[in-house]
Amino acid sequence: MVTDREIAGPHGPVPVRIHEPEGPAGAVLVWAHGGGFRHGDLDMPEADHVAAELARRADAVVVSVGYRLAVGGVRYPVPVDDVHAVWTWVTGRDDLPARKAIGGASAGAALALATALRCRGHGPDLILLAYPFLHFPTPTLGHGRSLENIEDMVRNYVGRISDIPADALPGSADLRGLPPVHILLSEDDDLRPSGELLERQLREAGVPAGTFLARGTTHGHLNRPHDAPAADDASLGFFAGALRVPREAPRWLRRDGEPRIEFGADYNPEQWPREVWAEDVRAMREAGVTIVSLGIFSWARLEPAEGRYDFGWLDEVVDLLHANGILVDLATPTASPPPWLTTKHPEILPVDREGRTVWPGARQHWRPTSPVFREHALRMVRAIAGRYARHPALAAWHVSNELGCHNVDDYSDDAARAFRVWLRARYVTLDALNAAWGTDFWSQRYGEWDQILPPRHAGGPVNPTQQLDFKRFSSDALKDHYLAERRILRELTPDVPVTTNFMVAGDINGMNYPDWAAEVDFVANDHYIGFGAQARDELSFSANLCGNLIAGRPWFLMEHSTSAVNWRPVNPPKLPGELARDSLTHVAHGADGVCFFQWRQSRAGAEKYHSAMLPHAGEQTAIFRAVTELGARLRSLSGVAGIGRTPAPVAVVVDYESWWAAELDSHPTDRLRYRREALDWYTALLDRGIRADVVPVSADLTGYRLVVAPILHLVPASLRQRLEAYAERGGHLVTTYFSGIADENDHVWLGGYPGALRDLLGIRVEEFAPLPDGTAVPLTNGASGTLWSERVEVTDPAVKVLAAYADGGAAVTRRSVGDGSAAYVSTRLGPQGLGLILEDLLTPAGVVSELPAGLRGRVELAIRGPVRFLINRTDEPVGLSELPGAPPALPGRGVVVVPAP
Ligand code: GLA
Ligand code: GLA
Repeated sequence: MVTDREIAGPHGPVPVRIHEPEGPAGAVLVWAHGGGFRHGDLDMPEADHVAAELARRADAVVVSVGYRLAVGGVRYPVPVDDVHAVWTWVTGRDDLPARKAIGGASAGAALALATALRCRGHGPDLILLAYPFLHFPTPTLGHGRSLENIEDMVRNYVGRISDIPADALPGSADLRGLPPVHILLSEDDDLRPSGELLERQLREAGVPAGTFLARGTTHGHLNRPHDAPAADDASLGFFAGALRVPREAPRWLRRDGEPRIEFGADYNPEQWPREVWAEDVRAMREAGVTIVSLGIFSWARLEPAEGRYDFGWLDEVVDLLHANGILVDLATPTASPPPWLTTKHPEILPVDREGRTVWPGARQHWRPTSPVFREHALRMVRAIAGRYARHPALAAWHVSNELGCHNVDDYSDDAARAFRVWLRARYVTLDALNAAWGTDFWSQRYGEWDQILPPRHAGGPVNPTQQLDFKRFSSDALKDHYLAERRILRELTPDVPVTTNFMVAGDINGMNYPDWAAEVDFVANDHYIGFGAQARDELSFSANLCGNLIAGRPWFLMEHSTSAVNWRPVNPPKLPGELARDSLTHVAHGADGVCFFQWRQSRAGAEKYHSAMLPHAGEQTAIFRAVTELGARLRSLSGVAGIGRTPAPVAVVVDYESWWAAELDSHPTDRLRYRREALDWYTALLDRGIRADVVPVSADLTGYRLVVAPILHLVPASLRQRLEAYAERGGHLVTTYFSGIADENDHVWLGGYPGALRDLLGIRVEEFAPLPDGTAVPLTNGASGTLWSERVEVTDPAVKVLAAYADGGAAVTRRSVGDGSAAYVSTRLGPQGLGLILEDLLTPAGVVSELPAGLRGRVELAIRGPVRFLINRTDEPVGLSELPGAPPALPGRGVVVVPAP
């Protein structure tokens, strides 16, 4: 509904046009059109079209203001007074929604921002600015030196670029305390730098700000919706997504019916002729498949040429699946850009550390920071989301695929630019960056931001803090891409959960998943089991961490393999029983979805020798039988669905930043492997039948009786305090060699190692003594250390030496602290050696095995509420007679589920 009326203002009545949505309104927006303060009215598209569209798309009341123009002697502040009067009227009404926003385009953006500043503290909940005109002098167009120089000149003169005193450089105001600001930019716009500068100023002032660049547009594009309809649509979508009441996204699949454990695979029907699709779906039903991930690599089929879409075939597949009761976890197909895109825009291709282009031919050949790629990807996301928003089969969004699998390390010029923006947000001033990076070492002091580069190939070791920050930045850059896709999906399908498949597996650590986890509606993970003595434990370790990324909530195993992979040098198949054991181990650690890569084994392409649910040999196969049995097994476990993991008494801490920092170059040894040490502890605990949670360092540790934090290399002051408080209050902390060494900037804590933890541990180390390959140092308890050793000086009488080096020095120590303790292991002991000291660590913490003696070590125990999972860690049967309620024996590689006592 649209109503014209007038509102009383200090200069007389102000005309407004009120656009109301069809349904209930969730927000109200006061909107000011542009026109250089001199032109414009309520009928121009920038007023009428924008207001109508935002009302419809965001379920908002939009009050468009016909403020007095600066003509006939009218001047500042009359237009601001008019907008302010309307704002005051809106906020005084109690029949309008509580969520209130103000916005405007071009000169109208200045009026909106000025109004927001007048009522800072009790003003709008958010601000929407389209191609704003906010500065004078106007910053120059271009991203080159001059712009940076001007800002640096201002920073140098005033000390900052926000809150500039009016008599120093009029035009900038104190922006602190504003609500989030969403800035829409036209690409080819002389005024674009004003919007871009505002974003940086807002960030500096601690105000959340984000921009959207409408490609191929010129200033005022919202006033010409027919010139570039796609850009108009995306621009209005950007605003509507911000304005709409953020609905709490669902935390699990959009589906009806009883809880169950979902079962399925990646499904790639585009690799097969149509006739096969019906066959696929029939066999899926036979196997008990409930969900498939669809369209992951379909971009070239869905958009065969720029802007030309072909959804017909996918419509058919989605309908077919739906008709057969199979849910769709629909991918945005952005993992692999099509050839037309990379041919037209080779500037989206990543560049490696040595400066080599990463060419198309595989997948993920795109720069996370490329604005050109981002634009094309988001256009595709908008198209697919709009197409399937209301399809009843759509159960979840699968954003891209394994973000960062092949493109986490991009050293391109786009990456360099984005890295500088990231660094400016982190450090604000170059002085702060120079201090954090220790740039006085080797004459690396920066005088301008654009002298800073990614840590590209250099003649010697590159600045370690630069490397560490680049890892942080690279994880954030991919997360930013994920968030950009999510913004569109949330806007168009607020009731569909959004996730992306993580790679919590083995040594993969490019993405800081504990940091990402807050952004997914549920955690999804891909895991491929490795080889060797600890492969099974590593699977458990990774599954365990997935279950703790969003504390205790069920998660989704998006991919694993039925048998062999084809990307290792040698790829043996799984042994009988391993398929089910691997799947059920994930379930034991909280997975409520068990999916594989992929449904039907490919005939062609790079993964044709990778196993699948339906192998080359067809349905009459051991794999397909095992798959079908697993489907039935999962159905029998539906009572577990929705129940989180039951916390364990022990935690093993994983800290991605320490992982990154501890493995940087130019260290005492390059042999140290963070994850290997953490896994050794996990194995040693499993060997004793002790349940442990693998948790991010940010987790609440207070409930754990024993916390093992191996190689906790980066310990900022705040973490030191947390760990001290944990022990003081009765917690028992264990840490190892190369822990506590450096702060968040990778600067060494002085006074002796282990730096930040020295006092807590009651020890002091002057020098590291890493061990050459093949060398071991014997300990008095029969263990032997490899990799690392130290001459540990005990500095506190409350320290007890639990094991010594054969030459007499302390090797393992424990200090009583308050009601708890802090222990230290100065060498690599491996699972067996750790087994020799564990009792001394577990006993004071009061941790005992929850398994009968005969099962300890041979069986892994995991608990989900009323249910216990017993997983055979060996290839031999294990008798269960000691366990009431259990079957007589657990077969080799078997899993049984029994009620908790
Ligand atoms: C050389 C260099 C020094 C330093 C040492 C380290 O001698 O001249 O700057 O790097 O190596 O061993
Ligand atoms: C990853 C990818 C899949 C596939 C599998 C093969 O998990 O997401 O597309 O390549 O690996 O193991």
